[in-house]
Order: sequence, then structure tokens, then C-alpha cells
Amino acid sequence: MTLEEARAALHTARRVAVLTGAGVSAESGIPTFRDAQTGHWARFRPEDLASPGAYRRDPNMVWEWYAGRYRDVTRAQPNKAHHLLALLEREKGDGFFLATQNVDGLHARAGSERLVELHGNLSTARCEACGTVAPLPAPDTFTPPPTCPLCGSRMRPNIVWFGEFLPELALEAATRAFQEAEVALIVGTSGQVYPAAGLALETRRAGGVVIEVNPDETELTSSLTHSVRDVASKGLAALMGEA
Ligand code: APR
Repeated sequence: MTLEEARAALHTARRVAVLTGAGVSAESGIPTFRDAQTGHWARFRPEDLASPGAYRRDPNMVWEWYAGRYRDVTRAQPNKAHHLLALLEREKGDGFFLATQNVDGLHARAGSERLVELHGNLSTARCEACGTVAPLPAPDTFTPPPTCPLCGSRMRPNIVWFGEFLPELALEAATRAFQEAEVALIVGTSGQVYPAAGLALETRRAGGVVIEVNPDETELTSSLTHSVRDVASKGLAALMGEA
């Protein structure tokens, strides 16, 4: 499929599902996980920070790390890619669905509404005792760990850690949307983490068109219909005729 054909398919599709990963926020200055130079994982071993075992061993260290990331994403701004996806949603209406693996909240801040955050959100915490989810205080007034506004117990980061299950309803909604999509866009994800990465394959299996936007080849590339080899903002602009 050529870029022209991919653009036409996106333009005419009534049902569009989008999966985004860390790459969509790279142009907002938020480092991707697996980037050797700047990624979080280059400086820390993931299992030392983002797992239930790490949290049991050293909750304060894990909270300090998340509090820092929360501060960083609060200072960052949504970029053109986030805004283009919000625009695409306004064009497609109820036929649009966005699933993100990102926990930075930038899609919502750009105006996306038909959105599920599959891996949680840095700006909220969840009570370890009663499960209440509550927003964190502003970063400059926040001292971790937070306590539950309902029962006073310690709260944990509201993030899906390695070895944990994705929220069932969110994953079901995303799976349905990708199965029904005529066109799926896979933007800025290395496609290494399942089940999120499997969503692209749901659309392909159901006979839909799957278009990747990524400057590099990924684990998913060979299974997809077309790849736009560019950063998220430029690749989406080219596909949407907004360049
Ligand atoms: N535009 C688009 N894509 C980009 C850009 C950019 N400006 N910069 C980098 N990329 C691509 C990289 O080529 C890479 O394929 O973004 C991808 C980022 O991959 P990862 O860092 O692996 O991030 P992601 O796919 O979101 O990781 C999935 O893994 O660690 C867990 O839970 C974590 O949600 C995360 C999940």
C-alpha cells in the first residue's frame, strides 16, 4: 500500500482505532522507555522500579521515582501528534477509539475523550486497602506516599506494573474497537509489550488496514499493511493531509 492509498483509507474509514506508545510523547520531551540514550530503562532496571516486588521491597524509592516522572509530565505539553489525534477524533466521532500505553496524560490534555489509558496514569494514585483512585496533589506540594482520602491507608501509583493484569474493561473495549476498525493506526510503540501490541493484529486478522507511524522498524512492522517512517507529528500530518 502506498502513502496515498493509506491516506485515502484513513480518510474514508468510518471506524478508526489508534494505539500509541512512548514515541508519541517523545516530541514533548518525555524520554521513551527503551531509548538507549535517554530512556528511563537505561538508567534503572525496570524490575527495580515498576513491579509489585520492587514496591514491596522499597515503596519509598518507587514512589520517589514516580513522583519525579509525575513532575516531569506535568511540565510537558501535548505536541502536534497529540493534537492531530484529537482532531481525528472530532472528524470520526463515535467511530474513533484511542488506546494508549502512555501514563503521561498528554492525550487527555490535548482533548482526546474516546480514550483508554491501558497502563494507568501518573497523576492519580490507588488505595492499597480499598481501591479508591484519587488525583495526586500538584507536584510542588506533593510528598509521597499519598494517603487515601476515604480510609487513610497508603496509596500506590495507579500504574499497571510488570507482571500485573491490564484493567479488564479497558482491554475489552480496546479489543472490540480494534476488531471493528476499518483502519488502525499504530503510533510510536515498539510493539514489545503484550497484550497492547496484539491490538494491531486484531484489526489485521479481521481484514482491516493497519498503518504504523514510527521512525524505526518495529516488532510489528512485518505484520502491518503500511509503515510511515517518520516521527509521530510529521507521519500523522502526512496521513491526515495536514502537512
Ligand atoms: N515519533 C514516533 N515514534 C517514535 C518517536 C517519535 N518522535 N521517537 C521514538 N519513537 C518510537 C521508537 O522507535 C520506538 O519504537 O517509539 C517507540 C518507543 O518504544 P518503547 O520505548 O518500547 O515504548 P512503548 O512501545 O510505549 O512501550 C510499551 O512497555 O515498558 C513498558 O509499560 C511500558 O507502556 C510501556 C510499554
